[in-house]
Amino acid sequence: MQINGSIALVTGANGGIGTLFVEQLLQFDVAKIYACGRNNSKLAHLVALDSNRIAPVEVDIEKPMSVSAAVNQCSDITLLINNAGTSLNEGLISSKNLDAARKEMEINYFGTLSMCRAFAPILKQSGGGAIVNMLSLIGKVNLPFSGSYSASKAAAISMTQGIRAELTGQGTLVVAVMPGTVNTELAKDWPNPKVEPAEVVRATLKSVIDGEEDVYPGEQATQISSQLLTDPKGVEKYLARFLPGMELAGTDA
Ligand SMILES: NC(=O)c1ccc[n+]([C@@H]2O[C@H](COP(=O)([O-])OP(=O)(O)OC[C@H]3O[C@@H](n4cnc5c(N)ncnc54)[C@H](OP(=O)(O)O)[C@@H]3O)[C@@H](O)[C@H]2O)c1
Repeated sequence: MQINGSIALVTGANGGIGTLFVEQLLQFDVAKIYACGRNNSKLAHLVALDSNRIAPVEVDIEKPMSVSAAVNQCSDITLLINNAGTSLNEGLISSKNLDAARKEMEINYFGTLSMCRAFAPILKQSGGGAIVNMLSLIGKVNLPFSGSYSASKAAAISMTQGIRAELTGQGTLVVAVMPGTVNTELAKDWPNPKVEPAEVVRATLKSVIDGEEDVYPGEQATQISSQLLTDPKGVEKYLARFLPGMELAGTDA
């Protein structure tokens, strides 16, 4: 797919990776970017980058009414980037209740799914276009430190495969992005190494252009994803050492 000339929508545009999506899309000759965030006040600095091409849109992907309103405001998109997500860093057993697990599932799974469902007809109208889902390597293998987050990303990986199959007929490219740890606020309590968000976004936009469906940006993701093919149990056992509540920030994995 050509990014030049496209009309993109980025959710979680004010976050670490989202901001880089907006900045790098601007370097292409995109026609328009809908920069979406939960609060317009957090988007002003992005709009200032190029007010002719960037339109701020308030969207909370957890709220069906908010997603419907976004469809009305952004009815011409060709590239949907589902980047919004959350990690509450809770364990599956040790967490005191199911609140974190439900919240992560609401945002990372149901929120992303409802954006895909809402915008699929618009992408069809525009000739196919592309959907990018920001998933995670720890959707492929559980990191117990953020066990319920890992599970929500595992669900989102499966959902992405199913959506890809359903949208093949309308010519929509569906890209699954599975980075390791990225240097943003969301991963501030996670161990090193961390890939820079700029690298994640570069690899993602390249995969959209090349029509590559699965992307593992950065050395850590490349290495672990290939290890998962040869020694999945070994990777599981390695990550099993990182338990909920541990002090991991600044340490090396
Ligand atoms: N950082 C990592 O190590 C890493 C690794 C793999 C995958 N990812 C994924 O990459 C994506 C971006 O994460 P990031 O690292 O850039 O984190 P971040 O800086 O914390 O940004 C997360 C963004 O998602 C938004 N968001 C959260 N809940 C939302 C909702 N209900 N509706 C709309 N927007 C919502 C946040 O908005 P507010 O500012 O309003 O909270 C924020 O803009 C996420 O899907 C994350 O799971 C991150």
